[in-house]
Amino acid sequence: MALFVTFEGIDGSGKSTQAKLLHSRLRRNGVPVRLVREPGATALGERLRRILSSPRCAASLPIDPLAEVFLFAAARAQLVKEVVLPSLWQGTTVVSDRYLHSTTAYQGYGRGTNLNALEAINRISTGDLRPDLVVLLDLEPAGALARRGADEGARRFEEEELAFHQRIREGYLEMARKEPGRWLVVDGNRPKDALAAEIWERVKGLLDRQRA
Ligand code: ADP
Ligand code: TYD
Repeated sequence: MALFVTFEGIDGSGKSTQAKLLHSRLRRNGVPVRLVREPGATALGERLRRILSSPRCAASLPIDPLAEVFLFAAARAQLVKEVVLPSLWQGTTVVSDRYLHSTTAYQGYGRGTNLNALEAINRISTGDLRPDLVVLLDLEPAGALARRGADEGARRFEEEELAFHQRIREGYLEMARKEPGRWLVVDGNRPKDALAAEIWERVKGLLDRQRA
């Protein structure tokens, strides 16, 4: 008995904060749990993360949009086989900061890669392992990017960056509308503790249902 819970949202929406809070709360409640992030959590994933998060289109290492899709998918395939499935099989709940819906949102809705092709790649790279619950931290891009701006030192955001994140936000909301039973959409503007309480209620309900 274990759950697979993923967190999604645009950059700066508060995913990592809520993933960590849920992880701590599960532990406090005696639920065996593992926290992972994407790309990452395996040696290969962390190496790919360094490649993928260095300034985009770096002159020394151009990455074609399709190649980028496969790099995220490679990190995910490794994560599923090495960490997620073995954890779930031994009854450990997994909380992941991003998962395959990030690829649909960023590479698909954001950058325009064909959604059907991405669906096939997502299915193959994960063996079609879907989360029990996807928590979407929904927030307007200007607010979310400003939070990150505060972290990174004052920074102005270009129209293009805002429009990119707006497409991603709308993509997430569309995915959530299509599978309302799997998604929990929360208002990322609310205070951290209020969000954590709302997310916990839903997770607790799923755990209770599994135990029944
Ligand atoms: P993400 O993982 O989605 O990029 P983070 O969890 O790292 O987002 O949060 C980005 C910034 O916003 C951090 O400085 C964090 O402390 C702050 N933050 C997170 N959640 C909230 C919230 N509900 N209200 C205000 N600020 C928040
Ligand atoms: P992350 O470290 O979660 O960044 P943030 O804390 O800003 O949300 O993710 C790194 C970046 O990689 C982020 O901009 C989203 C992007 N990404 C994709 O474009 N596709 C994917 O499949 C994944 C997992 C991440």
